[in-house]
Amino acid sequence: MAEFLGDWRRNCRCAELGEGDVGREVTLMGWVSRVRNMGGILFVWLRDRSGLIQVVFDHRHLPEDAYRVAETLRPEFVMAVRGEVKRRDEQAVNAGMATGRIEVVAKEVKILNEAATPPIYTDDGVSENEAVRLKYRYLDLRRPSMQRMLLTRSTVVNAIRRHMLDEGFVEVETPILTKSTPEGARDFLVPSRIHTGKFYALPQSPQIYKQLLMLAGTDRYFQIAKCFRDEDSRADRQPEFTQLDLEMSFVEPRDVQDTVEGAFKAVFGQAKGISLTLPLPRMTWKDAMENYGSDKPDLRFGMKISLHEGWAADCGFSVFENAVALGGTVCAIKAEGAAEGLSRKEMDALSEFVKTYHVKGLAWLAVSADGTVRSSFAKFLKPEKMEQLTAAMGISPGDAVFMIADRKLVALTAMGQLRVRLGRQLNLIDPDRYELLWVTEFPLLEWNEEAQRYAAAHHPFTMPMEEDFHLLDEHPEQVRAKSYDLVLNGIEMGSGSIRIHASDLQERMFSLLGFTHEEAWERFGFLLEAFRYGTPPHGGFAFGIDRLMMMLTGAESLRDVIAFPKVQNASCLMMDTPSAVGEEQLRLLHLRQDKG
Ligand code: AMO
Ligand code: AMP
Repeated sequence: MAEFLGDWRRNCRCAELGEGDVGREVTLMGWVSRVRNMGGILFVWLRDRSGLIQVVFDHRHLPEDAYRVAETLRPEFVMAVRGEVKRRDEQAVNAGMATGRIEVVAKEVKILNEAATPPIYTDDGVSENEAVRLKYRYLDLRRPSMQRMLLTRSTVVNAIRRHMLDEGFVEVETPILTKSTPEGARDFLVPSRIHTGKFYALPQSPQIYKQLLMLAGTDRYFQIAKCFRDEDSRADRQPEFTQLDLEMSFVEPRDVQDTVEGAFKAVFGQAKGISLTLPLPRMTWKDAMENYGSDKPDLRFGMKISLHEGWAADCGFSVFENAVALGGTVCAIKAEGAAEGLSRKEMDALSEFVKTYHVKGLAWLAVSADGTVRSSFAKFLKPEKMEQLTAAMGISPGDAVFMIADRKLVALTAMGQLRVRLGRQLNLIDPDRYELLWVTEFPLLEWNEEAQRYAAAHHPFTMPMEEDFHLLDEHPEQVRAKSYDLVLNGIEMGSGSIRIHASDLQERMFSLLGFTHEEAWERFGFLLEAFRYGTPPHGGFAFGIDRLMMMLTGAESLRDVIAFPKVQNASCLMMDTPSAVGEEQLRLLHLRQDKG
């Protein structure tokens, strides 16, 4: 039977109590985590958002009816208890519990509600099937670690918000019912009831609105913005997610980066107690690709890539020679001291792994401690070339070397993936380190093989670097952008750029991207027109708050840092969304199901 609160009021949370509270009369409310009945004495773990505390019901010190009530307590019952905080006897101390040196000796108890046996355990440390956890997310969220996650997320969002307000930013909400925004994913569409056959799109980001706010004179805008992208979910992608989105007028990249760095410093300080050293390091996209084979390098470990076009051009090994002759590259990494641990079978597995990144093979060489060489390619090399390779890479006994020959970006990208795999496999990565950096000067355009045209590498509003303007017509592929990504431990946290603020340059950009004048005006006419009315130079940035949370908590998936996430196939197991709707609703929206 559920009881009412009456005049009972909670005066403390469970795990806020400590030894300093011994002797205090408290009223606690929460859920029963577990019950141990020792015959005449009941030990009950009581849980609330703060954590656990032990409550003792001793029949000798309790009225009989109160003890009877306590005996009916079961896991997940909602209970209120009044009692006194006591120090535990030394032999009864529970070192594994934050409140393990104290307990509450109950004087009165109320069962505020009963609970059916829950389908999952609500304790940490019990592993449950994720699908069941997500179906019963409200129970899963009872786990102390999940409550801590929600608290950390709130701390992070508020640290960011305070920082932005302190820096003179204005928080503006932009519409959710809007028009397609060009971030490159598929849109979620919402049919209009009033306008037959017409649709709103949910924003992939507030990109266009924030640029229009700069036109409006808002000067510094930010928003904790919900974004929607209909793309396949992965561990680091959700169909709806949250960005810290910002835009600033009269700025160059450095000004935007300073603001973002300040926000990250506030977050790391307040959520992790870590003091970041600013300014963060910067690396151009070209250096990141050549040294790490990635535009989001993980700097927690070394194993840099080196290029060997010189000696490899006439080394005797046709794979290397051909790659160089065709204008490609031969790149290499060295895994120090890893030779003994890498069997032939393992080398074959690594070769198969790199092939999934579109290269034809992996050349490897392993020198054992006694100097014996095992290799897939050494036998093809001219004798003096082996010496040149050893000198160029500083190979010592015990080292393993991996080489890939191919077109430059293809070879580097595959090598970058191998580097990360080996970094993990060889335990070179310190999980407690946070390595943040800016990657700058990305290419403006990417060639889309399928569509046989250029696509914007960031988005079509990104400003080319002034130094590269002269290349726009003849060599658009060589033009660098005034864009920048923030990378943390090999994961892209966010991106931004300085925007094009002149309508003629914006039109030129659309034409490079293959839009005719008419198409550009049809899709972005309102923006091109707006640009005619005095647009200030401006730029901005957005980072994923979910991704940042994932890094801060060491979670494996975004699902662990979002209160109510979607699973791989974009459904919510708890609400069972998406779901079918009735004929009448469809009729009002002028929609008909295609039953075929
Ligand atoms: P971009 O598309 O690079 O840039 O997105 C910025 C950041 O948002 C996060 N993010 C995601 N997080 C979870 N799930 C997703 N599906 C997802 N997609 C993106 C990432 C990413 O780095 N308007 C521009 C920014 C700008 O130019 O100002 C934009 O949205 O952390
Ligand atoms: P093959 O002559 O094809 O048996 O190749 C000899 C060695 O060169 C094998 O270890 C291959 O994996 C390796 N190899 C083949 N293609 C490449 C490539 N593009 N880059 C690096 N190594 C390669």
